Amino acid sequence: MALDWLLRPVFLVFILIFILQFTSTSSKSDSETLIKLKNSFTNASALSSWVPGSAPCGGDAQWKGLLCSNGNVMGLRLENMGLSGKIDVDALVDISGLRSVSFEHNSFSGSIPEFNRLGYLKNIYLTGNQFSGEIPAEFFSKMQSLKKVWLANNKFSGKIPPSVIHLSNLIELHLEDNQFSGAIPPVMQSKLTSFNVSNNKLSGEIPDGLAKFSKSSFEGNADLCGEKIGKECNAATEAVAPGVFAKTIPMNISKNDASNFMKRGAGIITLAVMLLCVAAVIIFKMRRKEDDLEAGVQNNTDDEAVEAVEVQISMPVRQKEMELTKKPGSTRKGPSSAKGGVGVVISSYE
Ligand SMILES: *[C@@H]1O[C@H](CO)[C@@H](O)[C@H](O)[C@H]1NC(C)=O
Ligand SMILES: *[C@@H]1O[C@H](CO)[C@@H](O)[C@H](O)[C@H]1NC(C)=O
Ligand SMILES: *[C@@H]1O[C@H](CO)[C@@H](O)[C@H](O)[C@H]1NC(C)=O
Repeated sequence: MALDWLLRPVFLVFILIFILQFTSTSSKSDSETLIKLKNSFTNASALSSWVPGSAPCGGDAQWKGLLCSNGNVMGLRLENMGLSGKIDVDALVDISGLRSVSFEHNSFSGSIPEFNRLGYLKNIYLTGNQFSGEIPAEFFSKMQSLKKVWLANNKFSGKIPPSVIHLSNLIELHLEDNQFSGAIPPVMQSKLTSFNVSNNKLSGEIPDGLAKFSKSSFEGNADLCGEKIGKECNAATEAVAPGVFAKTIPMNISKNDASNFMKRGAGIITLAVMLLCVAAVIIFKMRRKEDDLEAGVQNNTDDEAVEAVEVQISMPVRQKEMELTKKPGSTRKGPSSAKGGVGVVISSYE
């Protein structure tokens, strides 16, 4: 017990020291890490306020281009600053509060920086740079917090990564004025309120999930089709695969495929109708056979002559006849007489 009382304050002091240590190093590391980022740019003359040793979010002397909240860096807004060179994502990983990055309207080039290592980002703005190359299909799949992705006015090429379309919280996606090609990935969800893919090299059909956006979100893609932009998707595109393989198949081959497909389709339908007709005829005949058979059997049964007479009387009314024949015990008296009935009936139809 005594030891317990003695240890408790000591323990608390340790915790206090640990917390103080942690907070001071964290703000220090924000400063260090931002300097590291600045040093990765080739022309950082716009960032003269970024001075080592000062507090990035320090009251009056806040560093230029930062979004701060409670003394922590929440966002980078480095727009129109003539920046180029590399964006050091290694440095950004250490800024734990970072939720938004904007490098719009600078001169960055090369492939898309590995922002997907910053899993908590909500916004990425890269509009108006020289970024190029393909974005891997799964690039965005671990960034489920993303709400706004602006990659417009760059030189990105290849397919639109499906992972960006599938982000469940995405509300803004701007990819206009790039060189994206292929089909727009199918869209199921759509929290999207702002969307633009105009002036790319996209092809195929506009997905239904994007029908709410205006024509100007899609214009300037020579091979894109859909009601929205007043360009009908041809039968080949729709029949072969909705929007997916549209561009990989040369036009004249896909047309042939389509007509073959149509011919084959028509053939299958004709065959199906014929089969149905044959089936209907057979069923009809079998029914009549059965009826006649029952009637024949009844005719042949001596024991129930009265019922047989009744059946013959009611011959014009088929339904009634059926009801009669369904009565249990009224039919099939002896195997020999039944066989005779069958023989008679079959000969009458052949
Ligand atoms: C460097 O940055 C400054 C300040 O933004 C800008 O005026 C200048 O054009 C940039 N230089 C280059 C070569 O990009
Ligand atoms: C889409 O981008 C194009 C090209 O920048 C622009 O002309 C058009 O107005 C934009 N439309 C929408 C809905 O943002
Ligand atoms: C159409 O097909 C022929 C033969 O299959 C080929 O030689 C020709 O280049 C094709 N034309 C187009 C426009 O794809």
